[in-house]
Amino acid sequence: MKPAGAYSSHAARVLGQISSDMPADDALREEFRRSRRLTAEQRRDISRAVFAYFRWLQWLDRRDTLLRQVEAALELQCRFDTNPACIKSEALAARAVPEWLKNEMDEIPLAWLRQLQREPALWLRAKSGKIEQLARELGNCAPPPATGRAGLLATCLRYTGSHDLFRTAAFHKGLFEIQDLASQLVGHACAPQPGETWWDACAGEGGKMLHLSDLMQNKGLLWASDRSARRLALLKRRAARAQVYNYRAAPWDGSPRLPTKTKFDGVLVDAPCSGIGTWQRNPHARWTTFPHDVRELAAVQGRLLDHASAGLKPGGRLVYAVCTLARAETTAVADAFASAHPNFEATPIPLPVGIAHPVPAGPSALVLWPHEHNANGMFIATWRRK
Ligand SMILES: C[S@@+](CC[C@H](N)C(=O)[O-])C[C@H]1O[C@@H](n2cnc3c(N)ncnc32)[C@H](O)[C@@H]1O
Repeated sequence: MKPAGAYSSHAARVLGQISSDMPADDALREEFRRSRRLTAEQRRDISRAVFAYFRWLQWLDRRDTLLRQVEAALELQCRFDTNPACIKSEALAARAVPEWLKNEMDEIPLAWLRQLQREPALWLRAKSGKIEQLARELGNCAPPPATGRAGLLATCLRYTGSHDLFRTAAFHKGLFEIQDLASQLVGHACAPQPGETWWDACAGEGGKMLHLSDLMQNKGLLWASDRSARRLALLKRRAARAQVYNYRAAPWDGSPRLPTKTKFDGVLVDAPCSGIGTWQRNPHARWTTFPHDVRELAAVQGRLLDHASAGLKPGGRLVYAVCTLARAETTAVADAFASAHPNFEATPIPLPVGIAHPVPAGPSALVLWPHEHNANGMFIATWRRK
């Protein structure tokens, strides 16, 4: 990261707009909409300064002006990037995450806390067969960290450049999606086959739905549902750009009344969650998420899984994914589902050995840790309907 510069004052102005109702992402988007003259590089620097502020919040002197605090946060980021050991383990444990987290996670690895203080990697998913063309056109692309993953992630690249990717020709040609590596692994855990019928029950803006379609070589049918009509409209725009047509979009609010009578080969429940696994990318959320959110979302997740599982045909696969690491939203949801549904059996998750840690929920559940993948944290569990 560059040392503090002119963008600090711009960042301080954005910070002044942020509240619990106006998350950092939204405030930045609003600022960039107003200040159209900013270059891609300036936008990136302002975003970095805003996120550094929230990453180092508990180290800052809150009596200082916002500008001084932004500068102090950038200095800390710079020092930490050069020498991560300059921040002592005790300080990380006490300040990088809120105190309440101790009661919500089985373990809080120090390596994860260290990872939380780094800037996140930007992952791309190339359309099948286009990875070489994409790397050539964009430049500044690196493969995933371990070579053993190359086969599995033949479509995954890390972007290290500074262009506004949404303005590249490759983006408009539909050659890639911006998709975190952990989210891509959810698609691989689903492993849908060409010709099958899948339901992405919480499809949102379609990140995973588009990946499932690519894995199915656009053969077969996907249902994409969400309770948000706005998100489904964005999904349709993204699908058109990616030239994905083998899907139907339908609203679903998570009730027992499913959007279709179709029985599926596979159902993905990529449920709404507290997002603790995304706290590196979104450090503001560390200070706006609370235990009551974890509890409320765990109840929603349990209901979504119960209801969506009714859409499977015998032999069909159910995949539950959340980008969080809280016990109540991960193993507890998986355990409750398993005990309430004896007609479902645990199935191994088709990811290579060593890529993730099995968790006590059994062979059908695993955790992806940010410090091991340089990506979001994710929990995945899978079952098969007997
Ligand atoms: C983790 S996001 C999905 C992200 C998406 N699958 C992707 O890969 O881009 C969870 C989604 O669940 C939706 N959701 C929240 N509550 C819901 C409910 N009760 N019924 C259906 N969808 C719900 C949200 O609107 C949100 O889009």
